[in-house]
Amino acid sequence: MTDDPIGTGPGAITNDGCAVEFYGLLPTVGEPEIVHAAVPPGASILELGCGTGRILRPLAAWGHPVTGVDHSSDMLAKSPDLETVCSPIQSLRLNRSFDVVLLASQMINSDPVTRQDFLATVRHHLRDGGIAVFQQSPPTWFEKLEHAEPVVETAGIRRTIRLARWEPPRMRAEVEYQVGENTWSHAWSSYMLTDEALVGDLAAAGLRFGEWLRDNRAWFTAHPA
Ligand SMILES: C[S@@+](CC[C@H](N)C(=O)[O-])C[C@H]1O[C@@H](n2cnc3c(N)ncnc32)[C@H](O)[C@@H]1O
Repeated sequence: MTDDPIGTGPGAITNDGCAVEFYGLLPTVGEPEIVHAAVPPGASILELGCGTGRILRPLAAWGHPVTGVDHSSDMLAKSPDLETVCSPIQSLRLNRSFDVVLLASQMINSDPVTRQDFLATVRHHLRDGGIAVFQQSPPTWFEKLEHAEPVVETAGIRRTIRLARWEPPRMRAEVEYQVGENTWSHAWSSYMLTDEALVGDLAAAGLRFGEWLRDNRAWFTAHPA
């Protein structure tokens, strides 16, 4: 396996290896609720890497004006009901700011250069006094993946871990998803963020750490510094 993300299976696959049809089937597992509880009612939300709008759609239904950004037009074609922008996150410079910028789906665990570019885009679009909300691969994910139950089935999705190799500072992972007759695979690297690296990377982007939203440290907030 190379360091580049790879995805296989039916339908379009994004540059980072995500299967569009699979994401179209994937239910939420509490992500919109976590974001909604962390931000003021009616706060405008920009999600970077929104995919099919899986997380944004319930937030829109709860009264948040939402905008989604993704570089995959195939993903965005699944969300005609939402305001979206097709763009790489790194070069996105909209002429407006938002109450909340969301970077979910462990995208902050990208390689350090990409992470810094993502954080600069988060800061650029966050209004003064706004809240950035992040979902990361928490420390326990890195500790447990190599020894995790390889096959788990939930909500009709059978997940098989094909590879979990800890090569500090990154975990190389390959996971297969089976839904009915369809099988997709996704291989990627997830870079662990120490607390020091997190605080330093946020500061370099003009952000300061806010609070952990979950005891397992999978979700946290940040604010303009
Ligand atoms: C793992 S999926 C998650 C989608 C969505 N956040 C969710 O939870 O359903 C990651 C998404 O980010 C998009 N993406 C990855 N890297 C990107 C980049 N550099 N610029 C824009 N979009 C990107 C992919 O196309 C994909 O739709």
